[in-house]
Amino acid sequence: VPAGVHDALGRPLRDLRLSVIEACNFRCPYCMPAEQVPEGYGFDAASRLSFDEIETLVRGFVQAGVSKLRLTGGEPLLRKRLPELVARLAAIDGLTDIALTTNGSLLAPQARALREAGLHRVTVSLDALDPMLFRNLSGGRGEVADVLRGIDAATAAGFAPVKLNCVVQRGINEGEVLPLVAFARAHGHIIRFIEYMDVGTCNGWRRERVVPSAELRDRIHSQWPLRPLDAQYRGEVASRYGFADGVGEVGFVSSVSEPFCGDCHRARVSADGQLYTCLFAGTGHDLRAVLPQGADALARHLEGRWSRRTDRYSELRGQAKAPRKHVEMYLVGG
Ligand code: GTP
Ligand code: 5AD
Ligand code: SF4
Ligand code: SF4
Repeated sequence: VPAGVHDALGRPLRDLRLSVIEACNFRCPYCMPAEQVPEGYGFDAASRLSFDEIETLVRGFVQAGVSKLRLTGGEPLLRKRLPELVARLAAIDGLTDIALTTNGSLLAPQARALREAGLHRVTVSLDALDPMLFRNLSGGRGEVADVLRGIDAATAAGFAPVKLNCVVQRGINEGEVLPLVAFARAHGHIIRFIEYMDVGTCNGWRRERVVPSAELRDRIHSQWPLRPLDAQYRGEVASRYGFADGVGEVGFVSSVSEPFCGDCHRARVSADGQLYTCLFAGTGHDLRAVLPQGADALARHLEGRWSRRTDRYSELRGQAKAPRKHVEMYLVGG
């Protein structure tokens, strides 16, 4: 039996996805629809964990078994002095991977500082290359040119290969799939296509809007033949395929058509210190109150919580026993 705490379904705690801010400069309709999330939305800064609190939090998670950290938002690059936080977290023994998921719009000026601070990897959301469509998909807030500059800057700063995430919606951006593959191959990026998920409560999800990964895989395969690749780690979220000509790879995140709860080793913490043991959990558990007792106490607390975890929403989706209330995506960063 491997070391570390296991949940009620035998799954260890390995990854932490930590939101550093709940605010975002975009309003993607599948996450933060503009009609529902007001312009100035956000907690006041005092509700967010401080850098001291975050450092203690991450140390506690590492003691409880986490070795992989992903910083998320909202849009994490809106958090002031983020490179300083990264440098503090990069110094923690036992963390072998620190990544960032961003919309990329503010990345160009910060990429180098993040790299120098010790960030290992960057993933950028990119739902379309077409400028008009991109703008619409960001809720009228984003310019694809800024994101492309951010991706270039990240590559130049040493983050290559950069991962690109595209959430595909039937009838909306399906036409972008092949151009995105061509773009990723030409630039040495890794593109991943994500099935549109019923996260949160405000995005009006409908199953007809989901494009199953198998369909996209077939479409890509008929233009650029694919062969399956092995997972890089147990519980990898994306299933990976290499291009038969040797140029690059593509991934598919298929939470709707092929749930992967059986290997889910992820905890999520919102910017105000609530623990969510599933992306689809209805309620969080406050960790902030435990932080003054230090990292050891937090680790014990987490072990207690994790050992009772039974979440497997994607496997229960559509059944009567599937929980109905879900945390908003922008509070836990996906
Ligand atoms: P690496 O494999 O470490 O590169 O990262 P990742 O693919 O886990 O992270 P990323 O932030 O790029 O997530 C890709 C997509 O997968 C996002 O849409 C996430 O919301 C989704 N995702 C990640 N983890 C889970 C999970 O545990 N459950 C579900 N349902 N979706 C997840
Ligand atoms: N379904 C699937 N992916 C989503 N993301 C945000 N909302 C959804 C949704 N409803 C993606 C973002 C980002 C990642 C962290 O989560 O586009 O790439
Ligand atoms: Fe912002 Fe990311 Fe949500 Fe889009 S998906 S609104 S960029 S947090
Ligand atoms: Fe993990 Fe919940 Fe996603 Fe299943 S639905 S993989 S339990 S986060």
